[in-house]
Amino acid sequence: MKKPFDEDEPPDTPFDVSLRPPAFSEFAGQDKVRERLELLVAAAKGRGDVLEHVLLSGPPGLGKTTLAHIIAQSMDVNIKNTSGPVIEKAGDLAGLLTTLERGDVLFIDEIHRLQATIEEYLYPAMEDYKLDIIIDQGPNARSVRLNLPKFTMIGATTRSGMISAPLRSRFGMDCRLDYYDAAHLASIVERSGGLMDVPIDAPGAMEIAQRARGTPRIANNLLRWVRDYAQVRADGRITREVADAALAMRDIDADGFDEMDKRVIEALIYKFAGGPVGLSSLSVAVGEEAGTLEEVHEPYLIMQGYLKRTPQGRVAMPKAYRKLGLQTPSKAAAAQGDLFG
Ligand SMILES: Nc1ncnc2c1ncn2[C@@H]1O[C@H](COP(=O)(O)OP(=O)(O)OP(=O)(O)O)[C@@H](O)[C@H]1O
Ligand SMILES: [Mg+2]
Repeated sequence: MKKPFDEDEPPDTPFDVSLRPPAFSEFAGQDKVRERLELLVAAAKGRGDVLEHVLLSGPPGLGKTTLAHIIAQSMDVNIKNTSGPVIEKAGDLAGLLTTLERGDVLFIDEIHRLQATIEEYLYPAMEDYKLDIIIDQGPNARSVRLNLPKFTMIGATTRSGMISAPLRSRFGMDCRLDYYDAAHLASIVERSGGLMDVPIDAPGAMEIAQRARGTPRIANNLLRWVRDYAQVRADGRITREVADAALAMRDIDADGFDEMDKRVIEALIYKFAGGPVGLSSLSVAVGEEAGTLEEVHEPYLIMQGYLKRTPQGRVAMPKAYRKLGLQTPSKAAAAQGDLFG
């Protein structure tokens, strides 16, 4: 059984942890979010105050956990890690909250998976730093009020749409992370290469960056594979040619598409004639839950211009047809004329 909280690092591999940037200055990209958080931290520190509650949302692997740790580090406070599904009873929550010291960070990953009853307990804890819990059952049941130290809650979620309005409104700051552009990913790859002691040139880093689906975690994973390849099949240096050969061996698409990305555009084009098709039909066709499709998979396809959301439904863009080696049907192009403008 998992403990309700974990003093250790979150469940990434030890290697990954060492690649985690420890400070804002080493955190590439997400400029707006980073600036806001840096300002929030500077202000709270200047006043000797406790940081507001922060909600971090966005697709997997973009740096939510990393940012939570950077925030705690720059506030000079302890961070306690837990996650939504692990907190099963009010007592688990009480156990966590009562071990906090003033200013400490409670990091709740996958906060959208908190049970509704636990969420109710959180409201007064976040707002007034009080926790009313019922102990015992039947005639002996009584409510006990615990006074908590002023603390900071940082919630992370890949499914921002599933956070209830009352919970969301209790966060002072709501930050949404976006996919990274290739230039930022290349700088992340170069930094990681340095930490791993692998020689990598700029074109090599860019080749990996372009196939990393806008995601630092994927970039680091690809880098590890390319390092292994370079070590065995080349002279240990990562150049563009080495990166290209290594990624080809793993069938990593030139655009970094994953299995679900492929399925989505294939379904759109082959099963729904390019759309428009509603989210729920598309989700059945690809075998993925609608909310996950909408918040985890679609944003990348939309950002890259393969798919468009319209009031009538999802529509495949010309780039999606080209990806499958097809011509954009002229009928569809005419019917959706302005979309393709
Ligand atoms: N801006 C960044 N600069 C450098 N490395 C980064 C950056 N963002 C993320 N990383 C790297 O990517 C890895 C994944 O990031 P992280 O674990 O913070 O993602 P996450 O958003 O919490 O993902 P999940 O939703 O799956 O929990 C980190 O271990 C870190 O090495
Ligand atoms: Mg995380």
